[in-house]
Amino acid sequence: VQLLLLNGPNLGILGRREPEIYGTDTLADVEAAVRAEVAARGWEVVAVQRESEGALIETLHGRWDTVGAIVNPGALMIAGWGLRDALAAYPRPWIEVHLSNVWARESFRHESVLAPVADGVIVGLGSLGYRLAARALLALVPE
Ligand code: DQA
Repeated sequence: VQLLLLNGPNLGILGRREPEIYGTDTLADVEAAVRAEVAARGWEVVAVQRESEGALIETLHGRWDTVGAIVNPGALMIAGWGLRDALAAYPRPWIEVHLSNVWARESFRHESVLAPVADGVIVGLGSLGYRLAARALLALVPE
């Protein structure tokens, strides 16, 4: 059983990227934290980070066999309409995560085109948000 952890543009440089906004945890730290959350249930984590919307869409198409997904779309939250359609088609529950509190930032980050098709959204809790998303999926997916 596999859980999909999908990160979009500019999230591969987590830890070095505006640490005052995004914190100092790296993407490897985030992946390890999510793995730790779901290990007891016997779930594995497929962790994919891509810079382009097309590559994220292709990843989703190929991973309908996963039990659920945690997705930080980065700036694709703003106008990622193709990613939205791919997430709407994804047949399993998925949680949108943003490290920063997007509503405390620039107004162009105040609306996510993806959120309406998410099962839940976790915002502003830093890397803890990914852990909480993993716990949410453990609760949403029947044993
Ligand atoms: C982000 C918020 C987005 O607005 C931004 O473009 C990112 C990171 C976050 O995790 O806080 O790349 O998704």
